[in-house]
Amino acid sequence: TRTISLAVIPGDGIGPEVISEALEVLHAVVDGDAVVDATHYPFGAGHFLETGRILDDADLAALAGHDAILLGAVGGDPRDPRLTGGIIERGLLLKLRFALDHYVNLRPTRLFAGVPSPLAAPGEVDFVVVREGTEGPYVGNGGAIRVGTPHEIANEVSVNTAFGVERVVRFGFETAAKRRGRLTLVHKTNVLTHAGGLWQRTVDRVATEYPSVTVDYLHVDAATIFLVTDPARFDTIVTDNLFGDILTDLAAAISGGIGLAASGNVNPDGAFPSMFEPVHGSAPDIAGQGKADPTAAILSVAMLLDHLGLADEAARVTAAVAADLASRSGRRSTSEVGAAIQAAL
Ligand code: NAD
Ligand code: IPM
Ligand code: MN
Repeated sequence: TRTISLAVIPGDGIGPEVISEALEVLHAVVDGDAVVDATHYPFGAGHFLETGRILDDADLAALAGHDAILLGAVGGDPRDPRLTGGIIERGLLLKLRFALDHYVNLRPTRLFAGVPSPLAAPGEVDFVVVREGTEGPYVGNGGAIRVGTPHEIANEVSVNTAFGVERVVRFGFETAAKRRGRLTLVHKTNVLTHAGGLWQRTVDRVATEYPSVTVDYLHVDAATIFLVTDPARFDTIVTDNLFGDILTDLAAAISGGIGLAASGNVNPDGAFPSMFEPVHGSAPDIAGQGKADPTAAILSVAMLLDHLGLADEAARVTAAVAADLASRSGRRSTSEVGAAIQAAL
């Protein structure tokens, strides 16, 4: 039998709560076909506050040695002065995405049967956002002077390289070609002309290699309109790191909520392990109360299985989630949802 070497970073807040359910589903579904050899890592805001350590080179090397990473969520109390400046988000989560070259942040959105959408007539909602994961305004290229004075100047530079844009755009075309053949570039080319120009020209050039894919373009503000008024028009969206972050919380909201939204930070080249995590964060407002929906983490496990070539197991997890969603009624605890999905397996 095949052994999957999995790094698990439960993280903070609801992270450990949803990951414990996700791991149970993972162990249950691979039963017999593979063995999951899980190594837990304590990284997160809590670990930092206890030890002063976030993620060093040795930690990175250890994580890089696994087949894949499953992450819950990281981030502590936003009012804690020891955590200001996003040191955990930047020093842990983004550091992992950058160091492991997760240049595709894959965020599928599907309105499962039986799931209430806040939209009156959502139609068939089934699209995927291919969010760039290693560039844009996330690189931390910026600076500030005269901080705290009336003359402060604060800059965040969005970095867009021809190399980085092309590889994620290509992934977008590949994805669209395997789906319904429709790719939407989302940007803000009317204002962010330098980066927007590079994205648009790259899409136009790569499009000539994919005659089966229909391409269109939306400014990001207009994209938020259509995500609400006509989400069924979308198949594959390709966009930059920040636009993709914002659009995917909106996408989650229209398809049943952030508790259902899964994601993969993928290194398609296979040079580094990919990392799967729910789109949501550590949710300090509901942490420790057993209220968190583990479905997003469980669907992230399905993405992980798919990525590792275990397509049947992935499909079984998704089917179990779909079955559970179709029959959901009333409020259930984290462990009740996890148990119901496991039972549906
Ligand atoms: P959040 O996603 O943690 O919470 C937003 C809202 O959604 C909250 O009301 C929360 O209760 C609810 N929610 C989130 N997940 C849920 C679930 N599984 N079930 C039910 N409700 C759920 O976003 P935030 O409040 O902006 O961020 C909290 C912390 O998490 C911050 O430190 C932030 O930086 C961090 N964060 C981490 C990640 C990550 O690790 N990948 C992602 C997003 C935010
Ligand atoms: C996400 C989160 C992260 C992001 C934060 C916590 C750095 O919001 O995974 O969507 O912006 O990518
Ligand atoms: Mn986000």
